[in-house]
Amino acid sequence: MAVARSPSLAATPDPGIRTARNGGDFFMNLPPRQNTTDGSFCQAYLLKISGDLTPDFLVVDRGTLEYENSARGALPPEPAGAPAAPPRLRSPCSGAGATIGRWRRDGMAQDKKDGLILVTGGAGFIGSNLVAHYLSRGRNVRVLDNLSRAGTEKNLKWLQSMGSSRLELVVGDVVDHEQLREVARDADVIFHLAAQVAVTTSVDDPRHDFMVNALGAFNLLEAARESGRKPVVVFSSTNKVYGGMESAGVELAESGYRYRDLPHGVSEEWPLDFHSPYGCSKGTADQYVRDYARIYGLPTVVFRQSCIYGPRQFGNEDQGWVAHFVISALFGRPITIYGDGYQVRDVLHVDDLVAAFDLAVENVERVRGRIYNIGGGPDNVISLRWLVELLAERLGRPIEVSFSDWRPGDQRVYVSDIRKANSELGWTPRIGAREGIERLLSWVRENRELFDWARG
Ligand SMILES: NC(=O)c1ccc[n+]([C@@H]2O[C@H](COP(=O)([O-])OP(=O)(O)OC[C@H]3O[C@@H](n4cnc5c(N)ncnc54)[C@H](O)[C@@H]3O)[C@@H](O)[C@H]2O)c1
Repeated sequence: MAVARSPSLAATPDPGIRTARNGGDFFMNLPPRQNTTDGSFCQAYLLKISGDLTPDFLVVDRGTLEYENSARGALPPEPAGAPAAPPRLRSPCSGAGATIGRWRRDGMAQDKKDGLILVTGGAGFIGSNLVAHYLSRGRNVRVLDNLSRAGTEKNLKWLQSMGSSRLELVVGDVVDHEQLREVARDADVIFHLAAQVAVTTSVDDPRHDFMVNALGAFNLLEAARESGRKPVVVFSSTNKVYGGMESAGVELAESGYRYRDLPHGVSEEWPLDFHSPYGCSKGTADQYVRDYARIYGLPTVVFRQSCIYGPRQFGNEDQGWVAHFVISALFGRPITIYGDGYQVRDVLHVDDLVAAFDLAVENVERVRGRIYNIGGGPDNVISLRWLVELLAERLGRPIEVSFSDWRPGDQRVYVSDIRKANSELGWTPRIGAREGIERLLSWVRENRELFDWARG
């Protein structure tokens, strides 16, 4: 790793850089502060860096200089003859004389780490689990949700019962870009989960689906860009962006459909082929979120999630099938299977997803602009029939099941290849399918009062 001063600032005293290889931080003595007006810059010099160091944040005493740079290993070239652009000053720099700066090799600046978290769709299934996780860590969390999903009011009550003054709720709609701008103005980390979530509903009302999922995500990105804070944006996309995957050979085995030639499942390299209005609107958002990292330098990460399940999921026939089956079986309601029931998914417990979200934020300077397939992976593949059999075994009675036609856009099999998330985020699912489903069953049993509609 080599560090050199920018030639365009040759008059600046030598900052006396000392580096620590292999990690972490290096320290430097900054030259005396120049007289500045608020909002300009403080110690004016630019560093050029080569080697595998991510030049992300330079923290000076009582002020934060943030290099706007998404490339790994080098600051953007300076235009010939032009004065070097000063680092952006996030707060007035008041340090005088020598100041210790710190360059982080990985991770994110401390102010962002401690800053406000915005969760759109935070009253939903995944959102409420995520919000609870961050509240329990002492973080300030703002939820934006229009409470359109049944069960959200119950999730909110639960979040409020955690007694946290750090939770703020804004009832609002992601389609309203002005409101979104206001809500996002001071957020440092944004999880964009709010969505129209059902393929079936998207087929019935594609305009609404587009407005919420495509326009809503665009509004969110614009709000993040306009805030000027470069918040981290993590987006919940979906495996549906890969469409029917007709070119993947599929065969029917005893345990259900499986890929003939994809032993690790579907990787992020698989061609996009949006199928169904839901696939199109989420896919649109998926690509916008990625591109805002390239074009505007927003630190964004996309998760293409497979089937997520767990507590606080009020699954129904249209979305959240694992919870729907568990709730129906427990309360003795019949289940309709669309297709032959041999379709399979890799299922992931929500706690494992939350852990992956956390890792993405933690490592965002290294993984910004990247996309990950996130699911249970090949070790956690189950078929609809398998789940029905497991529930019958656990409840000690048969489950009433009927069959109907396949639904549009329904993949025979989908299994995420999670090796990229494993190697780049250090993430792996911890909760196996059987264990997770048993946990979900226990949770529904212990919270019967939440399921008045299912008890009939
Ligand atoms: N659960 C899964 O298996 C799964 C799989 C792939 C992707 N996803 C994605 O994960 C995200 C969260 O899904 P979930 O399972 O928690 O669903 P959910 O329905 O429980 O949560 C979505 C939340 O968004 C809110 N919402 C809907 N429209 C809104 C709008 N216009 N403005 C503001 N809020 C609105 C709903 O009230 C709800 O609270 C979604 O983006 C979904 O597409 C989920």
